[in-house]
Amino acid sequence: NRELRQGQFIGSLDCGTTSTRFIIFDKRAKIIAEHQTEFEQILPHAGWHEHDPEALVDAMTECINKAVEKLEWMGWSRKSIKGIGITNQRETTVCWSRTTGKPLCNAIVWDDSRTLGVVREYEKKLEEEGLDIDDEEEDLKGVPEDVEIGTGGEEAAFGEKGDVVVENEDGQVESDGDGLAEKVGAKLENLGLAQKDKEAKKGQANGNADVHVHKKRKGKEGIVDVTGIPLSTYFSAIKLRWMLDHQKQVHEAHENDDLMFGTVDTWLVYALTGREQGGLHIMDVTNASRTLLISLKTLQWHPPLLRFFGIRPSVLPKIVSSSEIYGTISESIGTPLSTVPIAGIVGDQQAALVGNKCLRKGEAKCTYGTGAFVLFNTGEECVRSNYGLISTVAFQAGPDAKPVYALEGSIAVAGSAIKWLRDQMNLIEESSDMDILAGSVADTGGVYFVTAFSGLLAPYWDREASGTIIGLTSYTTSAHIARATLEAVCFQTRAVLDVIEKESQTTLETLKVDGGVTNSDLAMQLQANIGGFNVARPAMRESTALGSALLAANALKLFGWDLTRPETLADVNTAGVHVFEPELEEKDRKKAIKGWERAVSRASKWHEE
Ligand code: G3P
Repeated sequence: NRELRQGQFIGSLDCGTTSTRFIIFDKRAKIIAEHQTEFEQILPHAGWHEHDPEALVDAMTECINKAVEKLEWMGWSRKSIKGIGITNQRETTVCWSRTTGKPLCNAIVWDDSRTLGVVREYEKKLEEEGLDIDDEEEDLKGVPEDVEIGTGGEEAAFGEKGDVVVENEDGQVESDGDGLAEKVGAKLENLGLAQKDKEAKKGQANGNADVHVHKKRKGKEGIVDVTGIPLSTYFSAIKLRWMLDHQKQVHEAHENDDLMFGTVDTWLVYALTGREQGGLHIMDVTNASRTLLISLKTLQWHPPLLRFFGIRPSVLPKIVSSSEIYGTISESIGTPLSTVPIAGIVGDQQAALVGNKCLRKGEAKCTYGTGAFVLFNTGEECVRSNYGLISTVAFQAGPDAKPVYALEGSIAVAGSAIKWLRDQMNLIEESSDMDILAGSVADTGGVYFVTAFSGLLAPYWDREASGTIIGLTSYTTSAHIARATLEAVCFQTRAVLDVIEKESQTTLETLKVDGGVTNSDLAMQLQANIGGFNVARPAMRESTALGSALLAANALKLFGWDLTRPETLADVNTAGVHVFEPELEEKDRKKAIKGWERAVSRASKWHEE
């Protein structure tokens, strides 16, 4: 019955791919208490990867309960926790019933590749039908009020009230020869300019009120134009479509408007805010940007995409910013934190960007977890990649704040390859043995391991690529293969950063890193060597959890942390940064990279028939 002290802390719930943790931070990002638990990985067939949504809820409550227990054991009152942030494995798709609040099937995890058939089907559809992007909000802006954006068909003729102006694939307005298109403006961009000069443009429209602008994009670019991401097994709409087509109960719930769809953040917030009372149905904008269903410009569900994928708007959560008070934890979930506000939600890779304090344009981080994810902050500009990176929302620091965007290179296999060496190949007993085994040789002896277990993501986007070990000789030992496994992730990170440098025309001097693989000094030195840049690893590497804590504290105005003013975070997580510097000569680096690219070309398209 001792008196518990009152402090000021912020909690962060981090639901990753293989484990969940709840971490309680103080104002310098020192960890006061934490608890982590793993949950079951369900692998029913090759390429399939599922989670039981109820197991995610159980892991969440266990982590909160145990971490708060530790906090109280240390003499702090639970009331010291002023709010929590949530961060999550992204893209993983959950479907549940509005009536019962219960999951309708297992969640399909982000790296599950069963949906290749769905991708092919929708690629074909895109080629054949194209994607109407006519009611894109952006087009509405800047267009004179009397020039309406509509959905008129291509068959409509020019020259009448209700006309349709068709923009072709090159962005040119197609004219029917009667001069209307020219009057409206030779290009749609001219309509955009009309904001400045509405009256003049009204004149140009020449009294033809209700001129419709109909934009149509065919082929893959249509999707990437709008969403910033390609059609891939990776993203949520494809997984949702698979569930609608293959899970009877999901299909029926969709038909009956009983379906609730969400990513892991949506599902956990729904549970945390009390599903018995109809919990909140929300998704933060960073998670929404991974669904293939929002326009990166409007940051809202995009009706043409919903039509394209055949998804009813009623299933969708409300899109919210990454930092605001959304609601409070319900008593019914059974944690000691009832009534505590939930004030930050952010996808885990974006969280790590924030947690590494890459808040300024031009800063980058790589998180080496199950996969590895490089994010490069592009500021308020949504930069489009020509070389296979995806554009994504980095964070939105409040409902009225401008969104910050990032270029992302996602690498599907990183820590999971070490796990594979441990569990499937029995090469090591513990992941921590990697440094001893891989460090027992000076190089890989010419071996390359392209860890394309389910194809390759950025910057290759080759879903037919196969996992390949090449360069084997009778000299090769398990140590060479272990070293080549670590190098594989470093080469892919380097390939992604090459593209980032090319597209942003900047040279990265320091890459900030976090995630399980960064425990390996050898892996980090190899990364510096192969990358040719400094690798900065902080002592406290729970950057993902810290990112959501920062966003929550920002909304709660706690600790003076203000994400729009990075200087307010100067004291946060500063202790013990270890910098690995490149120790390889440029010519050797180039040679090694060349070898890697040759190995990738051998692994490439292996499954294509
Ligand atoms: O996009 C998938 C990513 O969010 C998963 O991250 O750390 O759970 O492997 P992690």
